[in-house]
Amino acid sequence: MSYSNGDMCGIAGYVGERNGVEVAYDQLKRLEYRGYDSAGIAVQVDGRLDLVKKAGTLNMLAKELELHPITGTCAIGHSRWATHGGPTDLNAHPHFDGEQDVVLVHNGIIENYLELKEELMQKGHTFLSQTDTEVAAHVIGEEYRKGGTLLEAVRHAVRRFRGAYAFVVMSKSEIGTIVAVRNASPLVLGLGQGENLLASDIPALLPYTRQVVAMEEGHLAELKKDSLRIVDGDGRDVPVRPQIIEWDVAAAERGGYEHFMLKEIHEQPQVIRQCLAGRLTEDRVFLENIFSDTVWNEIDRVNIIACGTAFHAGLMGKHLFEKLLRLPTDVYFSSEFRYGDPVLSPKSLAVFVSQSGETADTLAALRLCKSRRIRTLGIVNVVGSSIARECDRTIFTQAGPEISVASTKAYTAQVLVLSLLALHIAQVQETPGLRVADWVEELRLLSDHAQTVLTLEPETVKLAEQLKNMPLCFFLGRGADAYVGYEGALKLKEIAYIPTQESPAGEMKHGPLALVEAGVGAIFGATDPSTVDKVVSNIKEIQARAGTVLSITSDTSGAIRKASDHTLEFQPTRFDFLNALLSVIPMQLLAYHIANAKGCSIDQPRNLAKSVTVE
Ligand code: AGP
Repeated sequence: MSYSNGDMCGIAGYVGERNGVEVAYDQLKRLEYRGYDSAGIAVQVDGRLDLVKKAGTLNMLAKELELHPITGTCAIGHSRWATHGGPTDLNAHPHFDGEQDVVLVHNGIIENYLELKEELMQKGHTFLSQTDTEVAAHVIGEEYRKGGTLLEAVRHAVRRFRGAYAFVVMSKSEIGTIVAVRNASPLVLGLGQGENLLASDIPALLPYTRQVVAMEEGHLAELKKDSLRIVDGDGRDVPVRPQIIEWDVAAAERGGYEHFMLKEIHEQPQVIRQCLAGRLTEDRVFLENIFSDTVWNEIDRVNIIACGTAFHAGLMGKHLFEKLLRLPTDVYFSSEFRYGDPVLSPKSLAVFVSQSGETADTLAALRLCKSRRIRTLGIVNVVGSSIARECDRTIFTQAGPEISVASTKAYTAQVLVLSLLALHIAQVQETPGLRVADWVEELRLLSDHAQTVLTLEPETVKLAEQLKNMPLCFFLGRGADAYVGYEGALKLKEIAYIPTQESPAGEMKHGPLALVEAGVGAIFGATDPSTVDKVVSNIKEIQARAGTVLSITSDTSGAIRKASDHTLEFQPTRFDFLNALLSVIPMQLLAYHIANAKGCSIDQPRNLAKSVTVE
């Protein structure tokens, strides 16, 4: 059972007899492993709402609470992992509505918040932060002042929201009541004796209760100290069915998964939704905070600069930029770029891809470009990181905290952002023959496709047993499949310690084929129908030398399956590029299960660090 699903922020809530501030703080502490950049707590007191919030660590919040103590038996708390709006005191949650009638915390993204904000500003509302959350607070406050219960107000308000969210709300007048709603962002409720709790993840409930209810999509909950009511989106009561959680705390942090890596692999459908949230309209893509159209029309070359997995994502970007846009694109290892005296056109764009936003070589390469007055764009996961701050513009991958050293979900989000960027440029340049609307339609379905690809996991477990003793494993493919193979190979070598040789399949006969012998494995990515015949020939070349072939394929002709010793097959999307991207998921699963079968230390592989902040 898993409740954790790629969400970004930590949510806490308590109603009972204890000091709610202490409980909410303790709950936030238990969510610390998820990463955060600001935090806050609000309580109900004597017909008003008090709140304390602070940018930085939970210790900063603790100090603020010492300076401005608040207390109450009904409290909500939040630790924020910023996606929009920097990590500042004002952007931290909880947020009030304009009249301070309600206060709320939020996890997720309200896609239409700018429209709602405009509408509210025309009615005279003013806002203190740059967040979508504050807009939601104003909408809920407005509904509440129409009369009725807080539960009803929230139920009506969320009909005006588009996006993924979990909200937890208190009002100043309904004493001892917390209302929660969930739509695509996780929320769990905990049933205690004379007290009830809620949280974004199970570890924050375990010291208080093991009776847990995972909220369903679109449901709302009303928590009081002695009661819990759940209703559906139409206000009809639904039965409360608690489950007993037997996990220990460490397992609960991983959402019941054995390792963070596996949890993060499984989060990818949610990460895809989160990364695309607010960035797709009916038939176009929308990227916030991007250069003007004049700039996009002027750019004559793109240089993508990154390390490791982010470099591999950059290769996918190159493939798309050149194929879709005919825009010349180079991809550099940051460490080579910074010392390589690169030739840079003054009209070029330098794109820096980084999960952490702190990789030393990538940061140095960025500074080099800035000193040469080259335009810079970051594609970064961690808001507030050095690369995010120093680039002229930054697009966030919105993948949520990635804890495993082996990067998985960040890669998928990086490739997606590069795809959105290519489509944005296509829109500006009106690229002939490219129908952005078709891409938008397919991108909307991508999360479901990823979910289906994950169902291949039991097959990867079996294959892992058969392949775990390979002395060497090739990763081969053509076009985008070759690039995804580079990433598959990195996963296998970094966590399972199996030597790999990754290369475009056509290169094999120019040397690497000499390494093939009995026991050697070759994993083919085969998602491009236009190269099936060539790939089949490459498969035969391996088999003729006693190598074993596993193909990861969306080929519907059956040719790849027939030629290979083993296959992991999935249904294709309409775009070969997206099929190639999806094929990384079985590669990640395979690497994970081989490493697990070999008893390797998966989340902390030997000799490696999550963020390489030294040269
Ligand atoms: C991949 O699994 C590694 N963790 C590593 O290659 C990583 O992608 C690289 O160090 C770059 O990190 P960054 O994205 O934080 O800049």
